[in-house]
Amino acid sequence: MAGFEIATASADDVARVMGWAKDEGWNPANTDRLAFQAVDPGAFLIGRLDGEPVVSISVTRYGAGFGFLGCYIARPQVRGKGFGIQLWRAGMARLTADSPGRNVGLDGVVAA
Ligand SMILES: CC(C)(COP(=O)(O)OP(=O)(O)OC[C@H]1O[C@@H](n2cnc3c(N)ncnc32)[C@H](O)[C@@H]1OP(=O)(O)O)[C@@H](O)C(=O)NCCC(=O)NCCS
Repeated sequence: MAGFEIATASADDVARVMGWAKDEGWNPANTDRLAFQAVDPGAFLIGRLDGEPVVSISVTRYGAGFGFLGCYIARPQVRGKGFGIQLWRAGMARLTADSPGRNVGLDGVVAA
């Protein structure tokens, strides 16, 4: 898709995503992001549309056997355009690239 790029999230991006999570009515702890990044630097991916961050996912690797996915959010103005599923696939690829049999957990929104 023209203008859409996926990258490792910067520290500023990750802080922004915590705000997105709050906008969804979620309650991320203030230091969760630091713990995730300590155990797996680069655990957050960001999707940018024409340079603007619009989609996020966290895909944290714990050793070779386990991973945890979260912060799967597309900003409301870009939903339903295929950006979310692209980032999801990039996140799952990150989790399975080095360990195809990795188990992956997540917190789910019931409606999703
Ligand atoms: C969930 C969310 C990130 C999807 O992002 P999006 O950009 O709107 O999704 P896309 O446009 O890429 O979706 C394309 C299609 O793939 C589906 N899809 C998206 N992510 C998916 C996934 N992880 N697994 C299976 N299907 C998925 C969509 O339902 C859609 O299907 P449809 O065409 O039959 O309607 C977005 O709706 C969102 O931010 N919702 C609010 C936050 C939330 O609930 N996050 C999930 C927590 S579990």
